[in-house]
Amino acid sequence: MKYRNILVKSEGPVAVITLNRPDKLNSIDRDMLQSLSAAVDAVAKDKSCRAVIITGSGNKSFCTGADINYLSSLKTERDAARFVDKVHSVFDRIEGMGKPVIAAVNGYCLGGGCELAMACDIRIATPDSMFGQPEVKLGILPGGGGTYRLPALIGIGRAKEMILAGDTISADTAMKIGLVNRIVASGSVVKEAKSIALKMNQGSYNAVKNAKWAVNANTRLNNAIEKKGFLACFGHADRKEGISAFLEHRKPRFK
Ligand code: COA
Repeated sequence: MKYRNILVKSEGPVAVITLNRPDKLNSIDRDMLQSLSAAVDAVAKDKSCRAVIITGSGNKSFCTGADINYLSSLKTERDAARFVDKVHSVFDRIEGMGKPVIAAVNGYCLGGGCELAMACDIRIATPDSMFGQPEVKLGILPGGGGTYRLPALIGIGRAKEMILAGDTISADTAMKIGLVNRIVASGSVVKEAKSIALKMNQGSYNAVKNAKWAVNANTRLNNAIEKKGFLACFGHADRKEGISAFLEHRKPRFK
């Protein structure tokens, strides 16, 4: 399979998926989403693959979320519903994969990037990484699981502060509140992720798979509510204004 805007490399029992649009800070466009979906299925069914690492290309960004040009190409509510369903489906398959998935965060981790990292089992980050859900500044809300994975990870109050204010937080703060498991030196984040992945492979593969399933099953919430909120934003004039403002490099004027 030829992937676009991602790279997939197997290193022994560990597969590394690299989001690869560094000039656009690894934001997720249509091609990347399609390829990520296919790569997730491929590594999930590859029996020689025992753990997966997801990282970003370059040293500035893990992922800055959905490509805002891609978002602006969604014209109808049906387009928006399809987009949210696709993102939910890919992120849910990452979360549900029967093997550990580690996000190796190397820089900006915003919007859908933060949601992608949260769909992984654990997150490790470089000291200069920045985390945030800035969607309200675009007139939308986190539509990739952020409305339930973020509260589950850091608590409802802190999650509401991040989602409603749309501000970014440092790696240090992210670690203090439980969004990140550990911070490692820039340049060694993938290496550290590999060593954790190998550690997670010391136990029984079957036990690891079922333990992951049980934790997920006990904490799983509903995508349908988030989709309803996303579509309510999509149908509002503020979504058009927020996205146009970003693309035109100006401040939005919301109603
Ligand atoms: N969608 C589309 N393009 C994006 C993007 C995104 N989510 N994130 C970054 N880019 C693009 C920029 O438009 C820019 O493209 P250009 O060189 O063609 O102008 C390029 O990536 C580099 O980004 P730039 O904004 O110049 O870098 P910066 O260091 O000044 O700022 C951010 C970095 C992350 C603060 C800024 O890019 C940003 O706010 N991005 C959007 C984040 C966001 O709202 N994500 C949620 C999406 S739902």
